[in-house]
Amino acid sequence: MAASIKTVDGARHTRILGMGSYRPSRVVPNSELVDAIQSSDEWIRTRSGIIERRFSEDHETVQMMSVESSRKALAHAEIDPAQLDCVVVATVSHLMQTPAVATLISDELGSTPAAAFDISAACAGFCHGVGLASDMVRSGSAKYVLAIGVERLSEITDPTDRGTAFIFADGAGAAVIGPSEVEGIGPVVWGADGSKYDYIRQKQSWSDVLKMEKALMPHLRMDGNPVFRWASFEMAKIASEALDRAGITVDDLDVFVPHQANMRIIDAMARTLKLPERVVIARDVAYQGNTSAASVPLAADALLRSGEAKSGDIALFVAFGAGLSYAAQVVTLP
Ligand code: UT7
Repeated sequence: MAASIKTVDGARHTRILGMGSYRPSRVVPNSELVDAIQSSDEWIRTRSGIIERRFSEDHETVQMMSVESSRKALAHAEIDPAQLDCVVVATVSHLMQTPAVATLISDELGSTPAAAFDISAACAGFCHGVGLASDMVRSGSAKYVLAIGVERLSEITDPTDRGTAFIFADGAGAAVIGPSEVEGIGPVVWGADGSKYDYIRQKQSWSDVLKMEKALMPHLRMDGNPVFRWASFEMAKIASEALDRAGITVDDLDVFVPHQANMRIIDAMARTLKLPERVVIARDVAYQGNTSAASVPLAADALLRSGEAKSGDIALFVAFGAGLSYAAQVVTLP
């Protein structure tokens, strides 16, 4: 008779044990970008809500920003790096096809031989990472998981492209996920619509770049308006579903942390969801721009550090972007 494979039990409940973030030092106001795109500070503020953003300096690499934010998250969680079983990094701006930057980050943190891999789900990447991490802890394949969202989009954004130059920015955020006595992470509601693949993407494939006479960085390009309409309309539904699946309503919610893409999308979602006045809404996009996978953890961490949100608050995360892909979940803030 064939041997039977043992089933491993994981934790019954999971939660975010600690969070941390890293904002690059260079503050870039709209005025610095407008000439190259024939725009104005007023247009950018009105259409996107962005006042300024952060761009990284040379030493502020994807690895460096990830390690800095992770050290803060680990200290907040009171977890030693050696206790991590897995490091998941959500990013689209680590400019090495392979190996995963997660392996370098894990090693620098002192977490080797934890499993380490990158995921590519663009702006929804961090929420994918939290969902995966929670499921790993629940299934018994890991006890403590570090989920990072990190981007250095300034390197892959064309400063002369009117559709993206004023939007994208840099930064990192991290969360340690582990077992809990009570439920702290609701079911993830996620999905993708590849029929909208072209809406936000790298302009040329790497093989097309090699065919160019003079190789140029294949920058990001975006059809902003269709993405804007899709996000404003569809993402409130996904957020609502995440509330339903967690068994709560907007009346139980303390904090709303949507992807920081555009203040008008944030406002539209808050209106559609009928969020009560007292719910704190993350509006980090004004000073941080759109940092893709880093935007949700950067915004959540900022609210925790400023005291606008507190440990134990119930928060709704929802993120969306290239793919088009999306993910949302309800969490208890650490
Ligand atoms: O993070 C991943 C997900 N991404 C998003 O969620 C981004 C979603 N999209 C957006 O945030 C918005 O679409 C933008 C902020 C990118 C653009 O705002 P919009 O209201 O959708 O503007 P639009 O593209 O419809 O353009 C409106 C007008 C056009 O002029 P006309 O045709 O009305 O005369 C554009 O040519 O604004 C013009 N325009 C600009 N003007 C000054 C477009 N870009 C610029 C610019 N500066 N940078």
